[in-house]
Amino acid sequence: MRIAMIGAGYVGLVSGACFAEFGVDVTVMDVDPDKIAGLRAGRMPIYEPGLDKLVAENVRNGRLTFTTDIDAAVKGADAVFLAVGTPTRRGDGHADLTYVYAAAEQVARAADGPLVIVTKSTVPVGTGREVQAIVRRVRPDGQIAVASNPEFLREGSAIGDFMRPDRVVIGVDDDRALAVMKRLYRPLYLIETPVLAVSIESAELIKYAANAFLATKITFINEIADLCEKVGADVHDVARGMGLDGRIGRKFLHPGPGYGGSCFPKDTLALARTAQDAGVPIRLVEATIAVNEARKAQMADRILAALGPSPAGKRVGVLGVTFKPETDDMRDAPSLVILPKLVAAGVEVRAFDPQPGHARQALPAAVGFAQTALDAAKGADAVVVLTEWNEFRALAPHRLKSAMAGDVVLDLRNVWDPAAMRAAGFAYSSIGRP
Ligand code: NAD
Ligand code: UDX
Repeated sequence: MRIAMIGAGYVGLVSGACFAEFGVDVTVMDVDPDKIAGLRAGRMPIYEPGLDKLVAENVRNGRLTFTTDIDAAVKGADAVFLAVGTPTRRGDGHADLTYVYAAAEQVARAADGPLVIVTKSTVPVGTGREVQAIVRRVRPDGQIAVASNPEFLREGSAIGDFMRPDRVVIGVDDDRALAVMKRLYRPLYLIETPVLAVSIESAELIKYAANAFLATKITFINEIADLCEKVGADVHDVARGMGLDGRIGRKFLHPGPGYGGSCFPKDTLALARTAQDAGVPIRLVEATIAVNEARKAQMADRILAALGPSPAGKRVGVLGVTFKPETDDMRDAPSLVILPKLVAAGVEVRAFDPQPGHARQALPAAVGFAQTALDAAKGADAVVVLTEWNEFRALAPHRLKSAMAGDVVLDLRNVWDPAAMRAAGFAYSSIGRP
């Protein structure tokens, strides 16, 4: 089989490389010539563990190629996946579908035979039908079918998530398109992955409902963590006790400074807008969005309060600025709200992140960058953990203590043991623990 992946971002590049690993011939196409030139030279445009090796292997065996030429990508393809961005549209919070519709039209124009256009981007209900309308207008010959195949991978564990998903969702109303999709995902049948064939509308909504549910789950445990702090309970014990109930589940009950990333913030907002437009506002999701936004600002206030009555001129070492570990993605990272507030209060901020590639451009110029975690802590009045990179867990408390000038540690990801940190002489606080 032969496919094209339109968009060489986190999703397009990872799923393209994984389909190639499944034995499919894949051409990844992007409008960004620098990205494609880099990929051809073996340079990854993003940090995702294992991706460089997977890409190199599949380029070597001839199953994975890169191009900026849409005609070359689409020629002879059985399916063309749209994996372009769907960011928040300025002004109204809806998903911006400009890139999806432009790509759909380009693919339809370039098609030279029967094919399936598959929307892998996260798109609001109704987008698949609009793609069908575009296709019918450009190619009235009926050779092109349309399907929806939302992607559930997480950054940082994207390859494993793609190769061993909990389920594959296919939105389709055409038998030929369903047959093509089932063939593409055939390797997953061996590991008994459930494959759900549903309507295009249901597939589109499954993606938003799943993301909104997970964002709500995180927000719920964050608020329970706040209550734990007031009443002397430990949020990890509460989360474990809740999560062992199979109806609740243990995952996504880790408290923190608020969820970020390229999906939850924009997708919860887009779902809320879709529901408002449909006359059935989802108040639970609206509350999740508001609580999470407020939380990020509250975290900055909490850091400032820990610095005492006059935070101006104090030094803070920040460990981790990406929205989660094992990625270089800064989209909607809590650090983007928290660090500017510290800088505005006159705090001297020195950050360390193992993948600082996009962080320097995204954060205020006043934020300094250190080469190591201990270097960020050097001379600091306080150290704040914003992202739970594994290497922070391994930092010896006595080494951290001797690097710092002060003793304040705010662990907003609960990476360290409170008793050990207090024994090492820190004024240590974390989220939802006594
Ligand atoms: P991204 O911004 O990393 O990549 C998008 C790429 O598409 C860019 O390289 C851009 O140059 C390219 N592009 C835009 N228009 C194009 C066109 N007409 N032709 C060819 N290339 C074009 O985006 P992403 O994070 O990979 O997300 C893509 C979609 O997948 C979004 O809808 C997102 O919501 C969804 N998604 C993302 C994740 C994730 O973890 N990042 C997970 C699941 C779903
Ligand atoms: C998310 C979805 O999980 C994935 O299915 C979808 O395809 C894309 O969006 P991603 O954003 O890459 O994936 O990472 P995820 O692990 O879900 O984390 C998102 C945010 O929630 C991060 O800021 C993370 O720190 C936070 N989070 C996650 C918590 O605060 N607590 C948790 O228990 C889990």
